[in-house]
Amino acid sequence: MNTNSWPYPRWIGHRGAGKLAPENTLAAFKLGASYGYRMFECDVKLSRDGVPFLLHDDTLQRTTNARIKIGQGNSAIAGDYPWSTLAQLDAGSWHSEDYLGEPLPSFEVIANYCLAHDFFLNIEIKPTPGLQEQTGEVVAHRAAQLWQGAAVAPLLSSFSVLSLEAAQAAQTDLPRGLLLDNLWTGWLETALRLDCRAIICEQNLWDESSLTQAKSAGFRTLSYTVNDESTAQRLLNLGIDGLITDRIDYFSANRAA
Ligand code: G3P
Ligand code: MG
Repeated sequence: MNTNSWPYPRWIGHRGAGKLAPENTLAAFKLGASYGYRMFECDVKLSRDGVPFLLHDDTLQRTTNARIKIGQGNSAIAGDYPWSTLAQLDAGSWHSEDYLGEPLPSFEVIANYCLAHDFFLNIEIKPTPGLQEQTGEVVAHRAAQLWQGAAVAPLLSSFSVLSLEAAQAAQTDLPRGLLLDNLWTGWLETALRLDCRAIICEQNLWDESSLTQAKSAGFRTLSYTVNDESTAQRLLNLGIDGLITDRIDYFSANRAA
């Protein structure tokens, strides 16, 4: 495993700015930055024609105006639409009037924003079901192109082992993190096999035992989505390397352990 130093800040804005702005939009990144955050997590998937863009859910319903704009029902799968259609959607008005007209961003727009400001990015590969390998491959390739020559590469992460395998095959040098929502049998061996740099666990999964196992094997340890003081303090006391939070307004990005 690559055990080079870890260049990333400890505090990471979840989906840009948590719930304070529409998730996974450029406006959210800008708001997160205004609170002093320098690293952000976002979810990336593919349009029908293979363009990476930011969206958490498989469907468009919750965070866009797709029902009105493209006349689809509640189950419109985002990955069924070409980027030319997705780019027309309003991904801000569901949140509040202040964000009316905020577009669904392409991955390229967000990458260029981070690069222009020397911000760090955690790219969660969030594939449409059935497109795990393709998404991992395309996102890794595009990230490598966009960050070519940059001082610090983005951190790729995924719950999907298939996506991480594809990202590893496509761009061996980009750092990877295995996301875990439970400690399934073989998690540590899988992270080793994928040559991951980090393991990113749901906050309650980290304890003395799991953290020691991960650290002893050489992994950096991160946690999501840490929104309360007692959990943050417990994880900091354990020696966590990174905390992904919605509460950019509560946790200072410069807070020491
Ligand atoms: O990447 C950490 C976290 O974002 C994983 O869960 O569902 O918020 O994407 P989710
Ligand atoms: Mg995510």
